[in-house]
Amino acid sequence: MSPRHFLTLKDLSSDELKQLLLRASELKKIHKEGTQFQPLKNRVLAMIFEKSSTRTRVSFEAGMAQFGGHALFLSPRDTQLGRGEPIEDSARVISSMVDAVMIRTFDHATIETFAKYSSVPVINALTDDYHPCQLLADMQTYQEHRGSIEGKKVVWVGDGNNMCHSYINAAALLDFQLVVACPKGYEPNADLVAEHQDRVTILHDAHEAAREADLIVTDVFASMGQEDEQEKRLKDFDGFQVNTELMAKANKDALFMHCLPAHRGEEVEAAVIDNPDSVVWDEAENRLHAQKALLEFLLCN
Ligand code: CP
Ligand code: NVA
Repeated sequence: MSPRHFLTLKDLSSDELKQLLLRASELKKIHKEGTQFQPLKNRVLAMIFEKSSTRTRVSFEAGMAQFGGHALFLSPRDTQLGRGEPIEDSARVISSMVDAVMIRTFDHATIETFAKYSSVPVINALTDDYHPCQLLADMQTYQEHRGSIEGKKVVWVGDGNNMCHSYINAAALLDFQLVVACPKGYEPNADLVAEHQDRVTILHDAHEAAREADLIVTDVFASMGQEDEQEKRLKDFDGFQVNTELMAKANKDALFMHCLPAHRGEEVEAAVIDNPDSVVWDEAENRLHAQKALLEFLLCN
């Protein structure tokens, strides 16, 4: 039987996702109480990073250690992956020795190929198209601060990229309205938008989009791999900064999120990220708890 993978949020049903988010908060409580809980004793997670990371690496590695298991950091620089060993072969070999594999890479097709040839669960830790682990943490964070997100208005301000695509999937699974405010030419994938047209609206005016929002989310203008476009994007995203004026258009109790790392003064004004309505630190911490819930779901069921 092929293993259960987590390549996009849609690998979970709506009920499974809701259950996983509740479990993430329970695991957070267990951890904060100092209770030892080690369901993954002697289990090993391989972590393949083809892009930089702080939160993803620390949360998966710490999570595996807290669960009694172990995490292996693998970079293309010092594995044969960087010397052109085929993904199919790497998947067969690595998965024969570990219990799960986490991958951060560029092309989403790479992770799909790896999963196809892997004998153990594969977790998407960010591709150019999706960042589902971040959405687990974001949704957990919203729920912990404001309760159910069902029926709420979420506004994505910025690039229609990996994070935005995962927000579209979350809107479908958790039943909220997503307004994407992006410059022309930076819209999310048209097929994905068409598939979820009952949930997603695209606007090109961030301030109009922000009206009566319950949650405002943004991300860097230039993602990893797009460093050469930084200058052009700074110009193209003029008017798409989340600042105090934009936040004032949202509902009074609206939250602000950012997956981090952030560039204060570019996509977000320092006053917004450092304001009490900003839950970015809880959001980052919840990567740990949400991914522990995911590991438990994939490896202990
Ligand atoms: N948000 C996020 O994935 O952070 P890292 O790039 O630091 O892992
Ligand atoms: N969109 C960003 C997210 C980083 C966590 C990137 O892909 O670089």
